[in-house]
Amino acid sequence: MAKISGKHVLLTAILYVYITAVAVTARLLPSELPLHPYLINGQHKPISKIYDTSKYGILQLGNGLANTPQMGWNSWNYFRCDFDEKVIKETVDALVTTGLAKLGYNYVNIDDCWAEPTRNSEGKIVPDSKSFPSGVKDLADYIHSKGLKLGIYSDAGLYTCQIRPGSLKHEYDDAALFASWGVDYLKYDNCFNLGIEPEERYPPMRDALNATGRTIFYSLCEWGVNNPALWASKIGNSWRTTDDIEDSWESMTTIADINNKWAAYAGPGGWNDPDMLEVGNGGMTFEEYRGHFSIWALMKAPLIIGCDVRNMTAETYDILTNEEVISVNQVFLNDLLTPPSSSVIFANEISSDPLGVQGKKVDSYGPDGCYQIWAGPLSEQRFVLALWNRCSKPSTITANWGAIGLESSTTVSVRDLWKHKYVSLNSATSFSAHVDAHACEMYILAPVAAARSAS
Ligand code: GLA
Repeated sequence: MAKISGKHVLLTAILYVYITAVAVTARLLPSELPLHPYLINGQHKPISKIYDTSKYGILQLGNGLANTPQMGWNSWNYFRCDFDEKVIKETVDALVTTGLAKLGYNYVNIDDCWAEPTRNSEGKIVPDSKSFPSGVKDLADYIHSKGLKLGIYSDAGLYTCQIRPGSLKHEYDDAALFASWGVDYLKYDNCFNLGIEPEERYPPMRDALNATGRTIFYSLCEWGVNNPALWASKIGNSWRTTDDIEDSWESMTTIADINNKWAAYAGPGGWNDPDMLEVGNGGMTFEEYRGHFSIWALMKAPLIIGCDVRNMTAETYDILTNEEVISVNQVFLNDLLTPPSSSVIFANEISSDPLGVQGKKVDSYGPDGCYQIWAGPLSEQRFVLALWNRCSKPSTITANWGAIGLESSTTVSVRDLWKHKYVSLNSATSFSAHVDAHACEMYILAPVAAARSAS
C-alpha cells in the first residue's frame, strides 16, 4: 500500500480547498444573483473598513419603492394638530409654485389629528368633520391632480399619540379604506401599543397594504426602540431610528449621531429615518439648518420638509432647494439640474446618486470630537464630504484621504455644494476649509482623471 506522506495530505487539503472555492464561486455567478448595486456599471465596492456595507441592500422589502429616500412634506413639525384641508391644499399649491415639487418633494403627508376620535358605527376611521369636511378622497384627488402623492398617518396600537383610532387589529380594513381614498404613503406610529413587540405589530400592516393592490410607501415610526434597522427592512421602506426631533441644535445633532450608528443597514428599498426636517421652523440658525440639511442628505435620510412652505424665508428656500445637496440623496433626471457655470466640467460631478450608501461620520477631533468629518461613497467613484464644525468657535477642519477612504495618491476635484463652484481642481492627500461655528461645508470629490474641458 502506498504510504501517504504529510506532503500528500497537505497537497490534498490544498486541492480540496481550491475545488470547494471554485464550486462556491461557480454557484455565485453574477447572473444568478440579484445584482449588487455596488457592482452596477462596473463600479468598485468602496473600502469597507471605513464604510461597513455588509448589511447594505440585503434585506430590502422590494415593493419597488424607495430606490432613493422619500421626499415630501409633513404637517407635524410645524402645525401639530392645528391644520385642516385648506392648509393642506395651500401647501400643495406652494410646493408646486415654489418649484419644490419639481425637485422631488412629492409626498404630501398628513400626520396625526386628521381623524375623529372614534370609529363610526361600521368600525371605520372617519376624517375629522371640522378640519376635513370634504374627506380624504377629495384631498387625494386634489393632490393627484397636481402630480403629487398623498401620505396619511396611523398607529400600530390602540390609539394614535393624539388619541385618534389606531390600526392595531384593524390593519386590513384600514389599509383597504386608505387605498380606496387613493392614499400613497402610510406613516405608522408606535403609541398605545399594549406592550406587544413591534416585530409582531408592524408586519400585519405591510401585508394589509400589499393586499390592497395599491402601491403604498410604508414608513415605520417605531422611534428606534427595538433597533428597527436590524429587522424593519423586510417590513417597511423606512424606519425611524430615534425619538422625535425637536427644533434645536441639541436635538438635531444628537439624532444625527444616533442615526449614524445604523449606516450599514440602509440601502435602496429601505432607509434609516432620523425624523423629519426642522429647516425653516425658527429654532436654529441658518448655518445650523444648513448643516441639518447637508447631513440628512449625506445620511440618505428621507427629506421630508416640516415647515410652513406657504411662508418660507429666502434662506429656508435656498436650503431646501439646493439641487446639488439633494442630488447626493436622490437620483435626478439629469435635465433637472441647473448646469454648472464653471468653465471646467467634470463629467461625473453633477449627477445624482443611484448607489444609495449612507454616508457617516468618519473622523472627528478637537474638544469632544466637535470638528467632524462626515463622508460617503457616491456613484461613479465620487465621494461626498461634509466638514461639520460642532464646536462653538470657527476653525479650519481637515479631511485626510485615509479617513475618507481615498488612496493617498488620488487627485480629486472638489466642488462646494453650497457655493456652487469648484474650490479645487487638484486636491491630493487631504482637503481643509475654514468652517464657522455650528456651520457645515459640503463637497463632492471626483477623481480628476474624469475631467474634460467644457465645450
Ligand atoms: C409621534 C411621532 C411623531 C408624530 C407624533 C404625532 O410622536 O413620532 O413624528 O407623528 O407622534 O402625534
